[in-house]
Amino acid sequence: MSERIHRPRRAVLFVPASNEKAIAKLSSLACDAVIFDLEDAVAPEAKAAARERLKTWFAARPKGGPECVIRVNPLASEWGRDDLAAACECAPDAVLLPKVDTPRDIHDVDDALDEAAAPDDLKLWIMIETPKAMLNIGALAEFGRDRAARLDCFVAGTNDLVKDTGVLATPDRRYIMPWLLQMVLAARAGGLDILDGVSNDFRDLDAFARECAEGAAMGFGGKTLIHPAQIGPALSAFSPSADAIAEAEAVRSAFALPENAGKGVISIDGRMVERLHLAQAERLLARVR
Ligand code: COA
Ligand code: MG
Repeated sequence: MSERIHRPRRAVLFVPASNEKAIAKLSSLACDAVIFDLEDAVAPEAKAAARERLKTWFAARPKGGPECVIRVNPLASEWGRDDLAAACECAPDAVLLPKVDTPRDIHDVDDALDEAAAPDDLKLWIMIETPKAMLNIGALAEFGRDRAARLDCFVAGTNDLVKDTGVLATPDRRYIMPWLLQMVLAARAGGLDILDGVSNDFRDLDAFARECAEGAAMGFGGKTLIHPAQIGPALSAFSPSADAIAEAEAVRSAFALPENAGKGVISIDGRMVERLHLAQAERLLARVR
């Protein structure tokens, strides 16, 4: 697993770049990151105005706010190139590329960003939302190991996966679960961050909290959101619990005892605890800090 330290991405809110009212609301919201969408949430005739709205917003971007990401249209679409040019002008923290199928798509956008003289620290996030991306998931994740590549984060695109596969969408997500776990596995193999897909039903916050807890248990680092009401539940589900913090502290304290110095394995309350658990505990405590 990667030791790369990411900023927290527990609650990551999509905002249609065409929605002036929603964008104005951002300064009052406590999400970790915002994804300004130029793709599916913006109608074709609204795309040009949405790009201009983003340029205006980023020109006056408040300091110290959430991480900011722009989702562009696929490069091969009629809007892709203009979106990417606008994104470079905005200089967000990352560009999110949708409908990625193969490693070629990542090479193409990396090349386009280099050509546009995008800063080296501009990251690339990609949606995992097509059947082909699922079949190529290991090769896509390999970009995370390539220091020259910009890839930093996978985002599960569950609505598109449902649409393109014909799988039945159920409240418990039983049929897409294998793919979600496969995404987590691949992301971790590549040292990448990974965010769970959106929940469309933004009024049922109990169901949403359950889905967040399940995503956290599956190893996702956070959840993509569509509505401000989803921020609170996502922040709490993807933050370490008080029990987990107490347990990590107990592991650290036990290994710090003089009698355990140099030991590879010890026992705490009848459980075997190895140095790998210490590393896990240190990582959790670092996240809390
Ligand atoms: N980001 C910021 N603010 C948002 C928001 C979002 N994603 N969604 C809603 N709001 C704001 C509304 O503007 C409204 O603001 P107000 O209090 O100033 O009036 C408030 O939150 C309450 O919104 P509500 O009336 O409950 O919802 P709505 O009917 O206005 O919007 C959606 C519902 C689904 C259309 C809207 O939430 C949305 O567009 N979400 C994002 C969709 C998206 O980006 N999809 C692409 C990725 S899947
Ligand atoms: Mg999609």
